[in-house]
Amino acid sequence: MHIPLRFQEVTDMTTATSERPTVHVAPRDLAPSAPASTATVMELSKVSVYYGNYQAVRDTSLAIPQNQITAMIGPSGCGKSTILRSLNRMNDLIPGARVTGSVTYHGQDVYAKDVDPIEVRRRIGMVFQKPNPFPKSIYDNVAYGPRVTGMTVSNMDDLVEEALVGAALWDEVKDKLKTSGLALSGGQQQRLCIARTIAVRPEVILMDEPCSALDPIATNKIEDLMHQLAQTYTLVIVTHNMQQAARISHHTAFFTADVDAAGERHGRLVEFDQTGRLFTNPKDKRTEDYITGRFG
Ligand SMILES: Nc1ncnc2c1ncn2[C@@H]1O[C@H](COP(=O)(O)OP(=O)(O)O)[C@@H](O)[C@H]1O
Ligand SMILES: [Mg+2]
Repeated sequence: MHIPLRFQEVTDMTTATSERPTVHVAPRDLAPSAPASTATVMELSKVSVYYGNYQAVRDTSLAIPQNQITAMIGPSGCGKSTILRSLNRMNDLIPGARVTGSVTYHGQDVYAKDVDPIEVRRRIGMVFQKPNPFPKSIYDNVAYGPRVTGMTVSNMDDLVEEALVGAALWDEVKDKLKTSGLALSGGQQQRLCIARTIAVRPEVILMDEPCSALDPIATNKIEDLMHQLAQTYTLVIVTHNMQQAARISHHTAFFTADVDAAGERHGRLVEFDQTGRLFTNPKDKRTEDYITGRFG
């Protein structure tokens, strides 16, 4: 199996008539190669997540490299959000959810008894699909995290500015910091949520389909921002948009769901590789079928 290296951009899947599978990603859309650093920040080892008795996703092992963007792709319901939430213990907040296997952050088990989940979520922040600013001013949205976590802040104004600059929002809001965060456009709200996340100085930022509620221009801005953020932070992003994964990420994890004898679907990681390789030369037939649009 080998997918041709020469890409052909196809906008309408029904027009893809070539005999060889065509990856729906143009070469100019591929992110630059992964940076040289290969330090691992987080590692999942044989992670399964259950909701009650239902095993939603099974046996996932992968390493998240530092200062890179790792994308998780795959059809709906294959466990991408579930695995993402296992990284910062967000599943703890869902009644009946249970994680087995190990998730480590710099080698430390994030589920160990003496680990404070609040501290885990400060270091491993999260941005959601639907922008969710608090019904507070722009300033107070950003200052919220530092205040509630009791961070030592010598000058809150400076910290708010730094976070808004870091989220590429400062120029648009610097004259209206007292305005409600809810008065901003969708794309600005999402960047405000990113500013709120980075204000507590996390190391890892998880993003669950952060652009799916945004128009293409706002999406573009967030994608550019992700590249900037990766210089300082480690990013893990779930996207249902393969082109987006190809454009922005250095590594891609492809998930799918198997149906068992009882008809239950269980998500699983099929393939994890450098993004360029996964999209040009997938090792698994299921990855190939997905990226060539045969299913999903
Ligand atoms: N809070 C929950 N309670 C019960 N089942 C859930 C919950 N969240 C997700 N699931 C189930 O777990 C599986 C994986 O879901 P999810 O992680 O949301 O997939 P994805 O993000 O890939 O679309 C699905 O079958 C979904 O219905
Ligand atoms: Mg999801």
